Amino acid sequence: MKNYSVRMIRENMENIPEFPIPEGFVIRNYRRNEGHIWTRIQKAAEPYIDIDDGLFDRQFKRNLSAMEERSFFLATDAGEEIGTITAWWQPDIDGTDWGQIHWVAIHPDYQGRGLSKPMMSVAMTRLRQSHERCFLDTSTRRIPAVKLYLDFGFTPDLSRENSREAWLEVASVLEHPLLAQLESQNLL
Ligand SMILES: CC(C)(COP(=O)(O)OP(=O)(O)OC[C@H]1O[C@@H](n2cnc3c(N)ncnc32)[C@H](O)[C@@H]1OP(=O)(O)O)[C@@H](O)C(=O)NCCC(=O)NCCS
Repeated sequence: MKNYSVRMIRENMENIPEFPIPEGFVIRNYRRNEGHIWTRIQKAAEPYIDIDDGLFDRQFKRNLSAMEERSFFLATDAGEEIGTITAWWQPDIDGTDWGQIHWVAIHPDYQGRGLSKPMMSVAMTRLRQSHERCFLDTSTRRIPAVKLYLDFGFTPDLSRENSREAWLEVASVLEHPLLAQLESQNLL
């Protein structure tokens, strides 16, 4: 299966699914100078992109202080950070401000336990405070991530290059009502 880059969009911030944080875990804000924690989690979780020690600064240097109110860690009760999500934004995409779900990761030891949904609820709620719409970039082999985003109301941006091939590939391995609907409308 090819790993196409894809964009997903959500044209409004209504009806954000609310998933409570399970017992034994907390979600807390990123604090100043905790880029090394973000890097540790990304290094452990990221299957396709090389995560080097400078990536955090390159990604967020535009506004590092915003990280303290826009980035979150999922941690165990014992205080070990095992997940990260950032409610980022792009101030001008074709003249419009878009919230952005950015760099979502859960340490492999903790994947597959439904912990990504509470993280998404927190980040989407934060985006709703500042933005009227949001988007994210991902890729087609990241099936748990794509499923998560579809469940949170993101839809494929079919205006992007290769999007039809890309989403047909996703639909061949992931059954989802939204993808079935797009297929039935001949959009895929
Ligand atoms: C993306 C990520 C945070 C999701 O966390 P996770 O704990 O793995 O997610 P879950 O196991 O809860 O899976 C999410 C959903 O995908 C489903 N899923 C997982 N693998 C699947 C597969 N192969 N086929 C179909 N559905 C699948 C799960 O069943 C779950 O849906 P459900 O809640 O309805 O049961 C995690 O996989 C991760 O860190 N991946 C590496 C980094 C990455 O790709 N991040 C995204 C960058 S855009």
